[in-house]
Amino acid sequence: MTEAPSGLDESLGSGRVDICELIAEPGRFGDLAGAAESTTLERLVSLEPRMGDRGVDAGMWRRVGLDPNLTLGALDATDRKWLADVLRFWRVSPHNVIETISPADWIHELGPVNYYKTGRTTIRRVRLAMLQERKAEIRRILDFGSGYGRILRQFKAAFPEARLTACDVISDAVDFCAETFGAEPVYAADDPGTTELEGEFDLIWVGSLFSHLDAPRWKSLLDLLERALERDGLLMFTTQGRFIRDQIAERTWLDAHGEPIWVNWDVSDDQLSQAVSDYDREGFGYVGWGALDRRYGTSIATPAWVLERLQTRPGFRVLTYWEKGWTPQDLVVCVGT
Ligand SMILES: C[S@@+](CC[C@H](N)C(=O)[O-])C[C@H]1O[C@@H](n2cnc3c(N)ncnc32)[C@H](O)[C@@H]1O
Repeated sequence: MTEAPSGLDESLGSGRVDICELIAEPGRFGDLAGAAESTTLERLVSLEPRMGDRGVDAGMWRRVGLDPNLTLGALDATDRKWLADVLRFWRVSPHNVIETISPADWIHELGPVNYYKTGRTTIRRVRLAMLQERKAEIRRILDFGSGYGRILRQFKAAFPEARLTACDVISDAVDFCAETFGAEPVYAADDPGTTELEGEFDLIWVGSLFSHLDAPRWKSLLDLLERALERDGLLMFTTQGRFIRDQIAERTWLDAHGEPIWVNWDVSDDQLSQAVSDYDREGFGYVGWGALDRRYGTSIATPAWVLERLQTRPGFRVLTYWEKGWTPQDLVVCVGT
């Protein structure tokens, strides 16, 4: 292994020079360029202070298609940029997640272990989308339908510099997120699409809200989010696709207590069958069950139906449609144009 000269160790270890920038364009860093170019990738990555004790094992190098024993000088410009992007992905590991839970947080009550696991998965999904788009930072985050901050607390830990906005129709949940995570509060309108939002966001997260809306509300919410998404920003939302459709059709969908999920919905068997046949015929089905005394229920949508809603919108470019990307829900990612 090539030894790194101490100037390199000091500049990177102290954080004075960002290693990802040095890897991507060593020529910008004067004397450090030669030292970096004669250092192996493995050693360079070990100099990133934010990696802490986490090593990069052989499997990780294999998955990104780089040989850790090569020197930086042996990589062409495209591979250098790729390594810099991958290292930005590797070096972030959210820690210090706030664990204050509201007594009213029904999602936490249903399963505390999954509560944090789902949050960590969400951060990985965001970081994957950033990697796909070569997006280095996130500055302003909107969690639309934030509830009591299951995901927002992870955003705070993963992107500590970002401004956070919590938006929900439950004002107590919004207040909790403002007090606990320092989020800007937005009290949502009953029709989510008529909610007043200030300015634009470079990350909008909507976890498990479209999956509760009927088709007209899908449209009004997409209209609002199209206006609120910054150019090159990421809109990420989840939907219920064919896996949920099958569980409704076969009546096998169980809640966290192992009970059929519709026991508390007060809907008839015919309504469930109708939602499935609408989905099969038109790509979209909905059962209203009026939780929160609102027009609220459960929707199922095919990828084709969802993409049809997006492809007519000039403000979005579809980056990903990932079936079960947010298990059991599907994950959709759009980039602002
Ligand atoms: C299934 S929960 C998901 C909560 C959170 N996104 C998470 O994944 O932990 C759906 C959330 O959407 C909120 N919601 C329902 N109708 C809404 C509306 N019109 N505007 C904003 N949020 C709404 C609910 O109050 C609830 O907090």
